[in-house]
Amino acid sequence: MLKQIDKNIWVAEQPLRYLGLSVGTRMTVIRLNNRELVVISPIQVDEPTIEQINQIGDVCHIIAPNCYHYLFAPNFKQIYPKAIFWAAPGLAFKKPELPIDKNITGDGKSFINGIEYLLFDGFGTLGLNGIDTTINECVFFHPESRTLILTDIAFHFDESFPLVTQLAARIIGGYKTLSPSLLEKLGTQEKEKVRASVSQVLAWDFERVIMAHGSIIENQGKERFKTGYAHF
Ligand SMILES: [Fe+2]
Repeated sequence: MLKQIDKNIWVAEQPLRYLGLSVGTRMTVIRLNNRELVVISPIQVDEPTIEQINQIGDVCHIIAPNCYHYLFAPNFKQIYPKAIFWAAPGLAFKKPELPIDKNITGDGKSFINGIEYLLFDGFGTLGLNGIDTTINECVFFHPESRTLILTDIAFHFDESFPLVTQLAARIIGGYKTLSPSLLEKLGTQEKEKVRASVSQVLAWDFERVIMAHGSIIENQGKERFKTGYAHF
């Protein structure tokens, strides 16, 4: 089900396991002035959620924000075939079978009026297959609601998550801090590029932070992001 976060911004969540841990995942829906809806990091939507979405506006943009979060985008595109499926840089190469319409370019130029974005350059993670620096996450800023929208570049787990997830986050990072985990710290080689990306994010005037895995931060998001990235 959709949950309204601000006048023109909603989220919907679903359970998700990663490396055996319940981390959940979240999509964000932004309504633009013309009732156009932008769906960032789609989840598997059920009928009641589709009805809710249809009530609030018209789905015109579906965004796979990085090279990991694309699984449910084709389903969304099937439900809303006229919507533009935007892909993070490199995703079309990684998954050529996806019904991608447009690639987000890395130059930061505004691609949808009312939303700003940035390619969070230099970021990597350590996964089952070793270091991966091809996440290519685009982060988004919705000026109207002063909201920063992240996917995998920072986590924020708290007591609302299962105890095992809490424990893991306490050990590897991301427990009650808006930060990447040890896996990203180990997987990121180009720290200077990350520092440059962080400064660009901090130039945005945001208060709230929505991330894919963790609890939404309503206040002091900028300070918390800055602190969470102090390691870099
Ligand atoms: Fe993720």
